[in-house]
Amino acid sequence: MSQFETVSACIRCDKEDIAKVVLMPGDPLRAKFIAENFLEGPTLFNDVRNMLGYTGSYKGKRVSVMGSGMGIPSMCLYAHELYTQLGVDAIIRVGSTGGLADGVHARDVVIAMSAATNSSIAELYDSPVKLAPTADFEMLRGAVTSAEELGVGYKVGQVVSSDVFYNPRPDAARRYRDLGLLCVEMETAGLYIEAQASRKKAISILTVSDTFFTGESLSAEEREQSFTDMMRVSLETAWR
Ligand code: ADE
Repeated sequence: MSQFETVSACIRCDKEDIAKVVLMPGDPLRAKFIAENFLEGPTLFNDVRNMLGYTGSYKGKRVSVMGSGMGIPSMCLYAHELYTQLGVDAIIRVGSTGGLADGVHARDVVIAMSAATNSSIAELYDSPVKLAPTADFEMLRGAVTSAEELGVGYKVGQVVSSDVFYNPRPDAARRYRDLGLLCVEMETAGLYIEAQASRKKAISILTVSDTFFTGESLSAEEREQSFTDMMRVSLETAWR
């Protein structure tokens, strides 16, 4: 065990300060907004590097919310500490994504069954095969059931977690779409691999903020509504 396994380097709190389920938006100010608007009695448990984390309750169940930062390296270091050092069982990523597939529109909620990636994260483990970043099935089923009960439209499938926002290959998005990938974001594959490595659970629930081929984007009001839809589905999933 390395020195980094004994204490959490980037999250400074006691294990007891964090719930067993953690929602993770990329933006720490989003975490603050979610805590203040969707949880009861939120208290701050982390502010190291301003990566704000709060614990409160939703319908009587303890739930935490904390920023993951942007990209797989940032997601991985926080998910790793939460799973391996701070006793967290399940992480729900709540984030935005760019739509690729024909039927995926701005405002849609996408539940990521698996995440293809151009990151080398899955190759760093001592495995004789390349790992396939995959959601926890019970959480996936919980998210689908929650969306159906709430009447929120959703799509389920494989997403792309890219290491770059500005891809130097001009044909990348078209190739992703032609392979049936629904949308692109930057964290899910890292989260799913961390969950697999520590034998914990994860699900990514995303809202489509823009689309690559039809150039859709959201007004402030639509953005708010789709964020609320994603949050309702995610909180119900956490509550199950
Ligand atoms: N998140 C939202 N839109 C995105 C995009 N176009 N690329 C990567 N991540 C995103």
